[in-house]
Amino acid sequence: SKGAAMVTAVAQRLLSQRQHVADTLDLFRLDQEQLRQVRDRMRVELERGLKKDSHTTASVKMLPSYVCRTPDGSETGKYLALDLGGTNFRVLVVKIRTGIRKSVRMYNKIYAIPHEIMQGTGEELFDHIVQCISDFLDYMGMKNTRLPLGFTFSFPCQQAGIDKGTLVSWTKGFKATDCEGNDVVDMLREAIKRRNEFDLDIVAVVNDTVGTMMTCAYEDPKCEIGLIAGTGSNVCYMEEMRNIETVEGDEGQMCVNTEWGGFGENGCIEDIRTKYDKEVDEGSLNSGKQRFEKMTSGMYLGEIVRQILIDLTSRGLLFRGRITEPLKTRGIFETKFLSQIESDRLALLQVRSILQHLGLDSTCDDSIIVKEVCGAVSRRAAQLCGAGMAAVVDKIRENRGLDHLEVTVGVDGTLYKLHPHFSRILKATVKELAPKCDVEFVLSEDGSGKGAALITAVAKSFNGET
Ligand code: GLC
Repeated sequence: SKGAAMVTAVAQRLLSQRQHVADTLDLFRLDQEQLRQVRDRMRVELERGLKKDSHTTASVKMLPSYVCRTPDGSETGKYLALDLGGTNFRVLVVKIRTGIRKSVRMYNKIYAIPHEIMQGTGEELFDHIVQCISDFLDYMGMKNTRLPLGFTFSFPCQQAGIDKGTLVSWTKGFKATDCEGNDVVDMLREAIKRRNEFDLDIVAVVNDTVGTMMTCAYEDPKCEIGLIAGTGSNVCYMEEMRNIETVEGDEGQMCVNTEWGGFGENGCIEDIRTKYDKEVDEGSLNSGKQRFEKMTSGMYLGEIVRQILIDLTSRGLLFRGRITEPLKTRGIFETKFLSQIESDRLALLQVRSILQHLGLDSTCDDSIIVKEVCGAVSRRAAQLCGAGMAAVVDKIRENRGLDHLEVTVGVDGTLYKLHPHFSRILKATVKELAPKCDVEFVLSEDGSGKGAALITAVAKSFNGET
């Protein structure tokens, strides 16, 4: 009958709609073999970054941190720490005690870095930072104490010492002019001089991964790796000095900031990048750069999701085929929202209300599709991170000639902390791809503050100043 034919037609349309969505999301599905390839290619790039003859062109920069040991609990003192490069800018005072009252106490204040300052001139950025420090010192009543300062600066820095760091290139949302190629410690010192109001003793410049590793290692000596899965994505780990060909000396170890976010800049993961990844890259502040980061970190996952939703909508598979203003708005899907949408505790009706809150009118079917899209994108991110981590732990194991390695990773970052599935998939992937390693992940909160202070303390005791 006519009625039955109509029902069949509708059913077929629905089926083909589901099929189109499934086909699109299949592009984000990585099988074991592909993940093994990612692991192996990461391993190649880690090596290239360490070697004298390849490090200048390597996409994974493997930057020496001049941190040569993890804390042993003997650290003590009062420090100032700055944290620039994550979700917020913070100024902290950190008190470290040793002995039976071993503890770390912190006081901090969060300051916004307005968009126009992130992308203005370097002088404006550093003047703003010093302005915030000044406010903090007033607030704490500490204007006249000259504390040693650790500066957590979460961008790639070529270091020539613990207190020297030349910014290689901005990443994430920053793009202040006249900074790349300059020493960030010098820029900070000059801004302090310009203000001519107080003095600081800048002891260390620190990547957030290194701070995170140190914070975790303070409690757990097996921690020799730091991971950030947040706005950006990056890893550091303790490498043997003899393998770091860019630094003099063969004895002992040094923590290397891998800057693995740059993985793929040489085209080695083009086979798994989708057209959506390319669109996100092209719309970013640093097109062509940080390709791995753009597939794995909080700043970009929502953008990948948005590109897929736009495509599905333009193909009439979603949102009644209407591409509305909110959907065209860059950055609307923050990690926070992705995490909420993917939470299994949430009913679909609640997913719809989140979308509504973002200005997106959805049907029940729409909300199912959006949730699937988010799931595909974040699953791939966690798997890629896991594949990269498998390369790192297996390298450490081989460095030490071990059949089996037990190691702890200190982790921080909004994606790891907020997302309902990211950490589980990450861990499962590492287990699968690095079967000879037992890897424990420990949340290492506030590595950028605590860690900077611990590094400053370690650096001080190293110089015999305490
Ligand atoms: C970016 C930065 C890197 C940082 C990471 C996490 O990848 O380049 O230095 O560690 O973000 O914040």
